[in-house]
Amino acid sequence: MPEDLKKADAVIIGAGVIGSAIAWRLAQANIRTIVIDRGEVGGEASHAAGGMLAPLSEADSAGDFVNLCVAGRAMYADFARELQEASGIDIEYRTEGTLYLALNDHDEEELERRWEWQRTAGLNVKRLNRGCTLKLEPRLNPDLRWALKFPDDHQVNNRSMAAALHQSARSAGAEFITQCEVRRVQIESVSGIKRVTGVLTDQGFIESDVVVIAAGAWSSLLEVENHQVMAGNKIKPVRGQMVAVEMPSPAINHVVYSCRGYLVPRLGGLLIAGSTTESAGFDKRVTAGGINAIIQHAAEIFSGFDQLSISEIWAGLRPRSKDDLPVLGLDPGVGGLLYATGHYRNGILLTPITARVISELVIRGQSSIDLKPFSITRFLRPEAAG
Ligand code: GLY
Repeated sequence: MPEDLKKADAVIIGAGVIGSAIAWRLAQANIRTIVIDRGEVGGEASHAAGGMLAPLSEADSAGDFVNLCVAGRAMYADFARELQEASGIDIEYRTEGTLYLALNDHDEEELERRWEWQRTAGLNVKRLNRGCTLKLEPRLNPDLRWALKFPDDHQVNNRSMAAALHQSARSAGAEFITQCEVRRVQIESVSGIKRVTGVLTDQGFIESDVVVIAAGAWSSLLEVENHQVMAGNKIKPVRGQMVAVEMPSPAINHVVYSCRGYLVPRLGGLLIAGSTTESAGFDKRVTAGGINAIIQHAAEIFSGFDQLSISEIWAGLRPRSKDDLPVLGLDPGVGGLLYATGHYRNGILLTPITARVISELVIRGQSSIDLKPFSITRFLRPEAAG
């Protein structure tokens, strides 16, 4: 380990969009920050995601989670602009909105339920009949029954965003060490009070009073000395396979969901279809069955999908906590240890708000948002143990 990388004010484990965004915010505040990753920058879920900023499509009920997602979504226009200024990279923030289609009886019930709770919660959701939906997107399945429109559920290009965050964090002074395995987060205990002292890696020890676990699906594999709060599969990998095809002409412009899949149009001429939700451990293979299911579901949304040329297929691992909620904030038992993980299906959406709250905690010990619903302490209750 070079001398100048042996000591930091903050070490972040995980160089995905979450870790890189936190590093950017900390480095902007002149906090000497080192980000470590077992692979490449943005090489896992950040690369595999679809880039939808879609709380109204992804959340299932009113409450703390959708409120966090909506607050995070509201940060995006400024976040995209700031990233472009800092990095010169356009993250393709698109504001056409999202359509959610009813294609059969079951879908109609689900959309009615969604419409009810979202309207009651005061969220911006519109009902569109078949004709209005097809007027907006003439390429969609002409047999669709009706749709919800979420005008504020937008999208970005997540791969460009990972690159922009890396560039911005580095320009602000953060250091990145890739292909570096963490052996252990080191803890010291003085008069019964525990606090982090740094991170032991396969390239040496980095001394730091602050360690942020932002390792996505790998978070539960990290060893924290004498403090195994994250162990025992608190965060599990959930595989999502994806297919990108060449965009048909005329193009699809909205993100379009059904209850079984989604389509995400990209400015560069690709149409992305997703996804599977599979417990396959850390296996990132793409399977014939997975791709077949995605193509069937995409063809329900857009009938000609199965005739389009495939450009890329891939799979990534979503980090899913036991209750599907992210794990955000301070560890109450170990000074200087923070969590920014478990974002499951909403890592891209929650990147700006996660970076804000975690950097606030590091810089001034308090966050501007109540993080109690997302605290690691929920896994410390006896009924949540194991
Ligand atoms: N956010 C969409 C997915 O995880 O598939």
